[in-house]
Amino acid sequence: MELYEGIMTTRAMRRFTAEPVTRDEIVRCLKAAVQAPSGGNIQPWQFLVVTDAETRAAVGDIYRRSYDRYEPALLAVLPPFRSDEDEASFRRTAAASRHLADHLGDAAAMVLFLMPAISMTLADDQGDLDVGTPYASVYPAVQNFLLAARDLGIGTALTTVYRIYQQELRDLLEIPERYEVVALVPMGRPVGRFGVARRRPAEAITSWDRFGRRDT
Ligand SMILES: Cc1cc2nc3c(=O)[nH]c(=O)nc-3n(C[C@H](O)[C@H](O)[C@H](O)COP(=O)(O)O)c2cc1C
Repeated sequence: MELYEGIMTTRAMRRFTAEPVTRDEIVRCLKAAVQAPSGGNIQPWQFLVVTDAETRAAVGDIYRRSYDRYEPALLAVLPPFRSDEDEASFRRTAAASRHLADHLGDAAAMVLFLMPAISMTLADDQGDLDVGTPYASVYPAVQNFLLAARDLGIGTALTTVYRIYQQELRDLLEIPERYEVVALVPMGRPVGRFGVARRRPAEAITSWDRFGRRDT
């Protein structure tokens, strides 16, 4: 697949068939993940792959209970929709997200991206040097993983709501407490088709040389 087409058609896929995903396919995606950039090339990641059915179900239960708290909290603070199209798009995403919450444990595999709790803050004689959050050194690896899966025709969704019960997830999977679980990615053959997702156009949110100067 052509790279740009793969990028353009990688989006959250939340409905999967029962078809398996092979170990080789997962490893291929993980090899893409480790090629991602990280601050100072520290590569602050570990991966935990879950394929065992019972463990997937237990992870799925934690995810569903997290989503059960997230969904009403989100709906309570939802701003008014700007258009009927926006509302329809939100409702579609909400329905797909609910489906994932109820079926995450059925996904063929899931990969957890773990980050050791490290500080990337350096200091000099003038004080702390903010050179970015350590999370920024893991999400590029997650995105590489999603893209490599797309190349194989495997659907994925980057999720984080399980963090509501992160400690339960650590206990279940014997993850040491010093690791943050920064993403949980279910994967499987998608029920729907890959396509270009709706987005605000890049031109509308890009400034040139000074903030607010749009392309003319
Ligand atoms: C940091 C982050 C956290 C996310 N967490 C979740 C999540 O917990 N559950 C979920 O279903 N989708 C989650 N998503 C997926 C987003 O909802 C999705 O990327 C967005 O709605 C755009 O979807 P689209 O590419 O299909 O248009 C997350 C995405 C990001 C980047």
